[in-house]
Amino acid sequence: MTIPFVDLGAQYESIKHEIDEAIRGVLESRCFILGPQLDEFERTFASYCGAQHCIGVASGTDALHLMLRGLGIGPGDEVIVPAFTFVATALGVSLAGATPVLVDVRREDALIDPEKIPAAITDRTKAILPVHLYGRCADMDRIHQIAADAGLLVLEDAAQAHGAKYKGKRAGSLGHAAAFSFYPGKNLGAYGDGGAITTDNDELAERIRLLRNWGSRKKYYHEEVGLNSRLDTLQAAVLSTKLNYLDEWNKRRRQHAMMYDQLLADKHEFVRPRESTGTEPVYHLYVVRCAKRDEVVRSLQETGIQAGIHYPFPLHRLGAYQHLIRPGAHFPEADSWAAECLSLPMYPELTQSQIEYVVYQATHAFERLNG
Ligand SMILES: Cc1ncc(COP(=O)(O)O)c(C=O)c1O
Repeated sequence: MTIPFVDLGAQYESIKHEIDEAIRGVLESRCFILGPQLDEFERTFASYCGAQHCIGVASGTDALHLMLRGLGIGPGDEVIVPAFTFVATALGVSLAGATPVLVDVRREDALIDPEKIPAAITDRTKAILPVHLYGRCADMDRIHQIAADAGLLVLEDAAQAHGAKYKGKRAGSLGHAAAFSFYPGKNLGAYGDGGAITTDNDELAERIRLLRNWGSRKKYYHEEVGLNSRLDTLQAAVLSTKLNYLDEWNKRRRQHAMMYDQLLADKHEFVRPRESTGTEPVYHLYVVRCAKRDEVVRSLQETGIQAGIHYPFPLHRLGAYQHLIRPGAHFPEADSWAAECLSLPMYPELTQSQIEYVVYQATHAFERLNG
């Protein structure tokens, strides 16, 4: 049996008619840039997240960058980010001209460890930027407490967390502003690159709208040095169609995660992150820890199962960020997540027998390795 890591073809087949109609609507209207379908998506996604505003941009990386620039965070400023995340979290900070400052993650769930944040705060720190990694919300209450004590903003990297909940509220409404990615494989994915910022702050929303459109509100009047970073109307039409299915897809992801959890419950070689009380993760990825990760990934691949590693290197091991690492700084939990994390196939259309087969092959791979 061949099992892909994600199956975007199966998702397209399930809603083909609606997607084709939505795309045809844009082609016929010929409003490819800042068209009405973008306004509609921004309205519905803001409301879905429980935020006042949504501003569509060209990618999740641009969303992070523009969110920070919109807030006036730039050269000389520091932003606290987890040491274990996709590189774009830190790139967004760097692109704004500010400096990412790394904080280690928790052993139990790979999320930024709030207790390690205070030691990283300096008089240049402007914001804390937790990542809702794998679709699981960070410990926002504790992070807000620390931020309030130090007078900092709390921002969200919600690129992997469309629809995830923390104490009843959705990602995208848990801080001052949030950045989303609509990269095709995300829980809410476009057919190309896309991203968005959500916020309740009217002024920030207005400023980001300006920055994404060459710093211009009115044609040929450029008030600021902006970017060309708008979410395409075509992608917005696709995203509006898919948004109607997001809750159902997330529900299925949660069911699949529960089944993986049950089947792996007595397989102590695979350590599962725990769900914190009051949170509802959306399992963008289903990740376990395994001491023989590389061998298990190889063995699964040989049996036709695509497994992944998210991520093989923490930020402090990347060439791009060597210059930021202070002598003696170490991030042991980020290192051990990078060494042991193993992502098993996860997408809404997975079947029970596929999940059983993945678990069977993974546990057999481990037994074979132990001779
Ligand atoms: C945690 C995280 N932040 C930011 C990004 C960047 O998003 P994009 O690929 O749309 O630029 C991604 C996804 O790729 C991500 O997983």
